[in-house]
Amino acid sequence: MRVLVTGGTGFTGSHLVRRLLNMGHQVRVLDNQPGLFHDELKRLGADITIGSVTDRPLVRRLTDGCEIVQHMAAAFREVNRPKSVYWNVNVEGTRIVCQAAVEAGVRRVVYCSTQGVHGNVDHPPGDEDTPIEPEDYYQYTKYQGEVVVNQFVDQGLEAVTLRPMAIFGPGDPARFLMIYRRVAKGRFIMAGPGRALYHPLYIDNLVDAFLLAQDAQGVLGRAYLIGDEEFVTIKDLVLRIAKAMGVEVQIVHVPFWPVYAVSALCELVYKALPGEPPLFRRRADWFRQNRAFKIDRARRELGYDPKVSVDEGLRRTAVWYRENGYL
Ligand SMILES: NC(=O)c1ccc[n+]([C@@H]2O[C@H](COP(=O)([O-])OP(=O)(O)OC[C@H]3O[C@@H](n4cnc5c(N)ncnc54)[C@H](OP(=O)(O)O)[C@@H]3O)[C@@H](O)[C@H]2O)c1
Repeated sequence: MRVLVTGGTGFTGSHLVRRLLNMGHQVRVLDNQPGLFHDELKRLGADITIGSVTDRPLVRRLTDGCEIVQHMAAAFREVNRPKSVYWNVNVEGTRIVCQAAVEAGVRRVVYCSTQGVHGNVDHPPGDEDTPIEPEDYYQYTKYQGEVVVNQFVDQGLEAVTLRPMAIFGPGDPARFLMIYRRVAKGRFIMAGPGRALYHPLYIDNLVDAFLLAQDAQGVLGRAYLIGDEEFVTIKDLVLRIAKAMGVEVQIVHVPFWPVYAVSALCELVYKALPGEPPLFRRRADWFRQNRAFKIDRARRELGYDPKVSVDEGLRRTAVWYRENGYL
């Protein structure tokens, strides 16, 4: 089978590409940038094109002959990007991918959205019927991407949406690495009491879900929250990461709101400066927002079953960070 993976040299995409190649599929990748894994994926047999999902003729050409499109390219990690970038990539890019899939006769499109479309969950754990209340423009555009996907479903495209929790695992260059690094120092500054709920998702479990979504029946136009078996408080997460690393960590609590105010100020100041602010509101929100969900719908309708436990995933991630010189 030939599969197109957009965002396929990124953290999540590269794991999916490896698995698909391992299964004997032909894999095309479209990504903005070579990333950490370009050479490895190429060696494994991936056909990689550096370019944008907003490039209509390119997307159309790469979609030709594909049975499946796994669409996970997204404007994502950078703060202070103009809103137009998020809209063009996450909404218009998704429209271009879906249109190309229709024209090329693709059998199914799997769209990678995010749990973030639900924002803070007032009564955790939430589920897919929890109100859509994105907290920032990135999350808003990811949801608008879902709307676009479902417009195409109404016109006959086979497509399904996944809403992953907080993805972690080998190769994650960002959020979890930051937590591991702080834990490695033996002292973790926690804004607030650390009681916010957090739902991790080990990368191999998510890849299982992407593969299930390619073939599951009766799922068109549906959205599925994908997470690990359990969710934890952020304080517990820090302690479990320390355990996974085999180190002691002291958690030092500071009040939340001053941290939030400084984050907002940093964002403002850095508007006029190059680079990313050291603190920004989305990062500060990590300390207070509840992000915990049931994964019953995915279990029932996709046959999803997270096989790697949170602790095992954290341990494997620690090993990868150490072996690759990140810690
Ligand atoms: N990480 C999480 O916890 C999480 C949680 C829920 C959902 N998600 C979703 O999961 C997907 C993968 O995320 P990730 O964590 O693996 O992020 P990632 O490593 O940044 O992967 C996304 C890839 O897409 C590329 N990309 C951005 N704009 C593009 C464009 N216009 N055309 C082609 N490629 C483009 C990125 O390149 P650049 O680096 O150049 O932008 C990057 O290589 C995204 O759809 C994200 O919204 C992530």
